[in-house]
Amino acid sequence: MKEFIEEIIFSQEAISQRVKELGAQLTEDYAGKSPLLIGVLKGCFVFLADIARSIDLNCEVRFITASSYGAGTITSGDVKIGMDFDFKITGRDIIIIEDILDSGVTLTALKGFISDRAPASIKICTLLDKPARRKAPLYADYIGFECPDEFVVGYGLDYAENYRNLPYVAILKPEAYS
Ligand code: IMP
Ligand code: MG
Repeated sequence: MKEFIEEIIFSQEAISQRVKELGAQLTEDYAGKSPLLIGVLKGCFVFLADIARSIDLNCEVRFITASSYGAGTITSGDVKIGMDFDFKITGRDIIIIEDILDSGVTLTALKGFISDRAPASIKICTLLDKPARRKAPLYADYIGFECPDEFVVGYGLDYAENYRNLPYVAILKPEAYS
């Protein structure tokens, strides 16, 4: 797997440090509240595990899926959203946890879906923000790192379902795509 790594752009140490800072910020901003963390599967799974443990507050963790197709989903624009409906969004302080904000299409749909259910508040926390490729006018409230305009993998992010388990974020060699 590692023979396909071209360059590590965010090291394990840098990510760990930044996640602690974000967690401290969220702990301060949500003091006295019990936020509901909603992770966008599957890319969020590593970031969510780390950020949740760096937030020193009582918080609930739930997951949602967002994709272009799939069974048992609700369509919201071109993005299909799936979730188990055994939790309430109404009146809750929602923090959406994403791996990367790229075109913004996915998160725009998700934010609309959640807003329709009358939360008390809704914020977006993303590990990576790739502003160069934005199609929808959307901003994240909490950002780990600004990502260069490159396809990246690792720390939850995949290429064809691989590389999610790399402990860092990296750019792949062109050979990895062939
Ligand atoms: P958006 O809807 O274009 O903002 O993209 C959302 C999804 O595309 C992310 O949650 C990722 O799953 C995927 N994605 C976008 N850029 C990358 C990347 O550089 N590497 C891996 N996945 C990406
Ligand atoms: Mg993906």
